[in-house]
Amino acid sequence: MSKTRKNSVAFCGGAFGDEGKGRIVDEYVNNFSKDFKVILYRDNGGANAGHTVETSDGKRLALHQLPSGVFVKDSTIILGKGMVLHPGDLAEEIRQVKEATGGKLIVDIQIDEMAVLALDTHRAFENVLKEWQEGGKGATGRGISPAYSDVLLRHPLRMRDLANFDEAKIRKHYQMYSCIIKGLNGDLSTATVKCLGGEGEITVGDEDAFINRLMEQVKEIKPYIKSVFSLLAEAWQDPKYAFVFEKAQAIGLDPRYGVYPDVTSSDTTFAGISSSTEGVIDHNLIENRIAVIKATYMSSVGARRLPTLVKDELADKIREDAHEYGATTKRPRDIAYLDLPALRFFCKSGCVSALALTHMDIVYPGKPVKVCTAYEINDKEVPYRPDQEYLDKVKPVYKEFKPWNVDEIQKAKNEAELPKESKTFLKFISKELGIPVQVITTGPRRDQSLIF
Ligand code: IMP
Repeated sequence: MSKTRKNSVAFCGGAFGDEGKGRIVDEYVNNFSKDFKVILYRDNGGANAGHTVETSDGKRLALHQLPSGVFVKDSTIILGKGMVLHPGDLAEEIRQVKEATGGKLIVDIQIDEMAVLALDTHRAFENVLKEWQEGGKGATGRGISPAYSDVLLRHPLRMRDLANFDEAKIRKHYQMYSCIIKGLNGDLSTATVKCLGGEGEITVGDEDAFINRLMEQVKEIKPYIKSVFSLLAEAWQDPKYAFVFEKAQAIGLDPRYGVYPDVTSSDTTFAGISSSTEGVIDHNLIENRIAVIKATYMSSVGARRLPTLVKDELADKIREDAHEYGATTKRPRDIAYLDLPALRFFCKSGCVSALALTHMDIVYPGKPVKVCTAYEINDKEVPYRPDQEYLDKVKPVYKEFKPWNVDEIQKAKNEAELPKESKTFLKFISKELGIPVQVITTGPRRDQSLIF
């Protein structure tokens, strides 16, 4: 195996999303920015993601398509080929970021001209599909799966089609989706879809209205649409640069490794970085590939039935204490005990090399921290498999850990100050998953994190 590239780190969600990657990514970008030019690259997903970022003066902003780190001065932010981007929502996000930094961007945003468009047509189609089949019921309504399907069906619109405004191609796209939706008893022109800004919802309108809206939106984002590959290739070889990759969603939502069909449509593993960068960056050469997971429990939105679901009042308590409501959809999240068989599978299929454990302060006095260490069927140990019917049959085997003191862990400034019980817990998780723990977060404040 070749040597890894120094000063490169990638983050992904290690379970079902919403693990709190954002602030850790922010911290790494900040730290690197003191000594390096930083490239922050996102390779998958689109407006289905959601995270809150904070400016240095404490302003908070909910972002979807832009990664965390947009407030770290002079970094270069690349939205990669593997993403599906909504131009209107992106223009609105860029506007909000600009506003938060005094009317001018303090970072260089580059949108790969090869990134795929996820448009109002896709959102309308997704809504109609929800009426027709069970599979897509949990989707976020941001048109993610229809946009990725365009690629497999070999008729995607890419950012460069928008930048060059290939009107004939865009009109054909509208006409095709209009026909598909009509065939499913819908009407594209009167369909309403979610959007950022304004009323939060718009009517798609007829073909001309759709074209005119895109013409307006492209004016705002055109300056950022570029070919990014030579910059990526040169910077990867140049030690003046540090690289941070922030993936969206999580390995448990990958269409191949998550519980189908309650999955998203992008490659949520680190391998997605290789394909999005057309092999310019080999994900195996990234120095640290860190999966972020919640330390003492798991959470999930969607229809999946988790084998370790918490069924008593502990779930409500955790949901309130850790604000477990969807960032994009506001849906209350299911709460489950930490599921090591699932995490073992996700770490392996996701090409993970280290762990970040968040929410170490979600423990309660006198209440053991319960962890599922294995699954059994008919008293025989079995592995995790991404198949709901199979998972419905497994019986989780639990091990309990003594809770640690919340005050003590929240105040810990280094590893030595961590409560003894929390160290025992961390050691166990790392050993079971066969991966070192590199970061933990010990409370909601930005400074409550430790990097080992
Ligand atoms: P889609 O990505 O909109 O197609 O949604 C498919 C599934 O992935 C649904 O169960 C969503 O709730 C889930 N999902 C998509 N993005 C996220 C995320 O950022 N966090 C958690 N769940 C997500």
